Amino acid sequence: MEEIEIYNILLVGSEGQLGLELQKQLKNKSLEYVPLDLPELDITKLDSVIEKITNEKPDLIINSAAFTDVDGCENNKDKAFKVNALGAKNLAVAAEKIGAKLVHVSTDYIFNGFGAEPYKEYYNTDPQTVYGQSKLLGEEYVQQFSSKFFIFRTAWLYGEGNNFVRTMLRLADENDELNVVNDQIGSPTSTVDLARAIINLMETEHYGLYHATCEGKCSWYDFAKKIFEIKNIDIKVNPVNSDEFKRDAERPKYSVLDNYMLKLIDKNNFRHWEESLKEYLEME
Ligand SMILES: NC(=O)c1ccc[n+]([C@@H]2O[C@H](COP(=O)([O-])OP(=O)(O)OC[C@H]3O[C@@H](n4cnc5c(N)ncnc54)[C@H](OP(=O)(O)O)[C@@H]3O)[C@@H](O)[C@H]2O)c1
Repeated sequence: MEEIEIYNILLVGSEGQLGLELQKQLKNKSLEYVPLDLPELDITKLDSVIEKITNEKPDLIINSAAFTDVDGCENNKDKAFKVNALGAKNLAVAAEKIGAKLVHVSTDYIFNGFGAEPYKEYYNTDPQTVYGQSKLLGEEYVQQFSSKFFIFRTAWLYGEGNNFVRTMLRLADENDELNVVNDQIGSPTSTVDLARAIINLMETEHYGLYHATCEGKCSWYDFAKKIFEIKNIDIKVNPVNSDEFKRDAERPKYSVLDNYMLKLIDKNNFRHWEESLKEYLEME
């Protein structure tokens, strides 16, 4: 398949975890991009989104902006749907207006988490939280309003910014013992791997919906143990059940995604989560 040259990229949500890694990799590849985030661009405002996009005329828009505070979404439903659903729709409408491609990022929370085998792209969605419902509607809007889209569903993301790995390292500094949830299973995914997958696909015409997580699976407890093992931190970690950590939004028990569609087109370059974690921790 022929690759299509991308000349001008608009990166929305450029200051978030994924946005910062995308900036790094786009620079390394000498790809031109315009970074945008709040307050310069608020994706919930259709008029400003259309104005910005028709002025910049990008070939490609990457949307890594979202309201990602899962508990916050539960308590602020309107904001969740504005940012995660309407924001995605506004970008899709504007992208379509100028014929641009659209990369959008979604989540494992669109599934109910009751499964026991890795979710494939065509499995039924059934979000259990406001965050998951708003992200699912965002996906649907992107598919309805943009004709050249890539949607990447990812999970358990860590990179530049607040994330589980950094929280564990900070807590280990302050405590001799930690309780970590052992009954939620997923695939920790490095923003390095995800940004690489996005950049790898965006110049092609392999449009569509993709699961995009690191290979392998573990519980948060296993994840924490591995972080401390790699960093040679001697700390007692106790496996506990989710009931001990009551949150406003219930977390999915099982959120392992199968990168099935990436595998079918021979583009699944995600590493095992432990390998990506080692690389990340070398720099922490
Ligand atoms: N983090 C995870 O574990 C995870 C898991 C699965 C999927 N995802 C998805 O992956 C994508 C990237 O996540 P991330 O962890 O990089 O998120 P993040 O660090 O929270 O970054 C999101 C960025 O979007 C910005 N933003 C929020 N509302 C906006 C608005 N109305 N207009 C413009 N920008 C806005 C945020 O700005 P402020 O900080 O100022 O609000 C922030 O810079 C998201 O689509 C998320 O749903 C994340």
